[in-house]
Amino acid sequence: MTPPVRRPRRLRATPAIRRLVAETRVHPAQLLLPVFVADGLSEPRSISSMPGVVQHTLDSVRAEASRAVDAGLGGIVLFGVPEPDDKDTTGSAGYSDDGILNRAIAAVRSETGDDLPIFADTCLDEFTDHGHCGVLADDGSVANDATVELYVRQAVSQARAGAHFVAPSGMMDGQVAAIRSGLDLAGYEGVGILAYAVKYASAFFGPFREAVGSSLRGDRRAYQQDPANRREGRLEASLDELEGADMLMVKPASHYLDVLADVAAQSRVPVAAYQVSGEYAMIAAAAERGWIDREAALTEAVTAIVRAGADIVLTYAALDLAGWLR
Ligand code: PBG
Repeated sequence: MTPPVRRPRRLRATPAIRRLVAETRVHPAQLLLPVFVADGLSEPRSISSMPGVVQHTLDSVRAEASRAVDAGLGGIVLFGVPEPDDKDTTGSAGYSDDGILNRAIAAVRSETGDDLPIFADTCLDEFTDHGHCGVLADDGSVANDATVELYVRQAVSQARAGAHFVAPSGMMDGQVAAIRSGLDLAGYEGVGILAYAVKYASAFFGPFREAVGSSLRGDRRAYQQDPANRREGRLEASLDELEGADMLMVKPASHYLDVLADVAAQSRVPVAAYQVSGEYAMIAAAAERGWIDREAALTEAVTAIVRAGADIVLTYAALDLAGWLR
């Protein structure tokens, strides 16, 4: 055979050479840790469908936030889990100042101050007794504009509690613009918006529904996007950017790398991607059975998400990754 002119294997020969030519580097500072905080818990409770992830108490979330600072993470994303009795048709525990999420924000802010950016999930699904992300119209659909008004109340209450960023995840039309002006009117022009701009109606949210004790029957296909659609992701991303989002998110991540690459190419603001509960659970569960290497698989998955264009990655494995990357 004629010897090959190009030999790409030269650059793969040793770990030191591979490290030198790596095109993608994942750094703890670009990782956000999503965390669940449950009301009425006396100690952390494990979530069976998400091995290694727990529902925190107000005390244990402070300790988790301190660990996140020590690990050099980019921030923490807080989700509240109310007591079942506190759920109602409008999700009022989601925007009352003494709701579990607002108390968790305040607890973390008093623990870590400005050392750890705090992102609050701005959505009502954890707090409604029907499990939908907003209030229902007479025909049973989620009423867009009435829901957005409640998101504005919720975002303002989260800013008051000490959130650095609110993260609207309900996929209502116009939610980013309304929240931006609501925050500004309330004097919180310094509080930012991480917009769940491109969010698909995904089966990979399954374990999250256990994590937050969701009451949902049915699905969210009338407001979250159809997994079949790619171009629509570009539309949703540009709308949220124009409406004033400080950062955009694509969610889920691993099965939507094409969409993520599109959004990264067009966006003028930082782009985040969310490795969601099902993506995490598949790897964690297979690793528990010895079928896959947890560290290698999670590192590969997150590297691929960054390679596709994410500046920021939300991952339940953020603390583990920070340790492995060190
Ligand atoms: C809505 C919300 C969901 C997730 C994040 N925010 C659930 C949903 O849209 O059904 C899912 C996150 C995950 O699966 O890890 N508040």
